[in-house]
Amino acid sequence: MVVLNGILLFTIFTFVSSRSIFFNDPVFGQPEQIHLSYGRDPSLMIVTWVTLNEVNDSVVEYGQDDIFNQRATGSVSIFQDSGTEQRREYIHRVVLQDLEPGQRYFYHCGSDEYGWSPLFWFTAMRNDSNFVARMAVYGDMGKDNAQSMGRLQEETQLGHFDLILHVGDMAYDMNLDNARYGDEYMNAIESIAAYIPYMTCPGNHEYAYNFSQYAAKFSMPSSMNTYGGDANHFYSFNVGSAHIIGFSTEFYYYVEYGFEQIINQYQWLEQDLIEANKPENRARQPWIITMGHKPMYCSNNNDDECLKTDGYIFIRTGLPFIQAYGLETLFAQYGVDLELWAHEHSYERLWPVYNMTVSSFNN
Ligand SMILES: *[C@@H]1O[C@H](CO)[C@@H](O)[C@H](O)[C@H]1NC(C)=O
Ligand SMILES: *[C@@H]1O[C@H](CO)[C@@H](O)[C@H](O)[C@H]1NC(C)=O
Ligand SMILES: *[C@@H]1O[C@H](CO)[C@@H](O)[C@H](O)[C@H]1NC(C)=O
Ligand SMILES: *[C@@H]1O[C@H](CO)[C@@H](O)[C@H](O)[C@H]1NC(C)=O
Ligand SMILES: [Fe+2]
Repeated sequence: MVVLNGILLFTIFTFVSSRSIFFNDPVFGQPEQIHLSYGRDPSLMIVTWVTLNEVNDSVVEYGQDDIFNQRATGSVSIFQDSGTEQRREYIHRVVLQDLEPGQRYFYHCGSDEYGWSPLFWFTAMRNDSNFVARMAVYGDMGKDNAQSMGRLQEETQLGHFDLILHVGDMAYDMNLDNARYGDEYMNAIESIAAYIPYMTCPGNHEYAYNFSQYAAKFSMPSSMNTYGGDANHFYSFNVGSAHIIGFSTEFYYYVEYGFEQIINQYQWLEQDLIEANKPENRARQPWIITMGHKPMYCSNNNDDECLKTDGYIFIRTGLPFIQAYGLETLFAQYGVDLELWAHEHSYERLWPVYNMTVSSFNN
């Protein structure tokens, strides 16, 4: 019997180890890190997920009462991590079209051959400007010590929010352990982000390897009419009576990745604000809201670093010496109503302020 057991164990061991020679990961082709993002109009929803092995099929089956009577296919792209293991992940993106505004849809994603995700649901964006969108807004979450995660997951599934705005700093940091921190974070938010759109902007903790994992894994509606274009650094969308703009404050600090990105983004921001201020657009979306990671103002006990030249004043006032591409004047000029920021790990609300001076409300 002992010998038999030995042979049996040996055989199982051989089987297991030969599997791991041929396949990099124990899970073959199973969808994970599933999340939603809003498209450029209410008839669209983008489903993004990851497989850790090569899977070429990207399919979403969805529907209302007849839960899988519709089927949409998308495309796969490769995320190549720059860590020592040079891990690869397969990013699947599917755009769901012709959704009925305000309707609930069930869906799963994957493929017949390699397996399907659990069943999720979402509500297509309502398309009237009376729609008051309920957003949970936060930054600086982290993979570990994510103290609000449980409540966000619970409240999302109870239907308390229509969307999330995550104002930068995700996993602390996505690139660590050969990008596995990013995987773990994206899996943790799945029980939020597979149900409601998870709209993001980059923070300093996404900076590694030129923000490559952040760029690969999210699918924000870019100016190029693609999803995940402009590396998810800057984009805008409308929801209810709000025009929401996500942008990168990090271009001002990680200039080694390309100084021209500050200029490109500035020009895009100005164009987007001009467009949003066209009378017919501003009538439908009177509220213009921005989100960027590092704030223009802060007064917590963190040395007021956002006001200092060795801190991050340049986002507000412009680059040193040339005094250009500062965002405070731009945002004031085009009537931005609300600016959302993160990074300081504290909660603050400010009076309307411009150039270090508190003013009264416009309009
Ligand atoms: C949303 O409403 C606008 C204005 O009424 C309309 O032009 C557009 O077609 C609607 N979109 C959808 C998806 O219903
Ligand atoms: C995926 O497509 C590529 C390129 O066409 C092909 O080389 C590869 O074998 C395919 N992989 C699978 C798992 O089907
Ligand atoms: C960093 O990424 C951006 C956006 O994808 C790209 O435009 C830029 O050229 C990259 N910079 C470097 C140094 O690779
Ligand atoms: C900000 O205020 C200072 C004086 O306090 C003034 O010199 C400067 O021109 C103002 N800048 C802007 C952009 O209004
Ligand atoms: Fe930060």
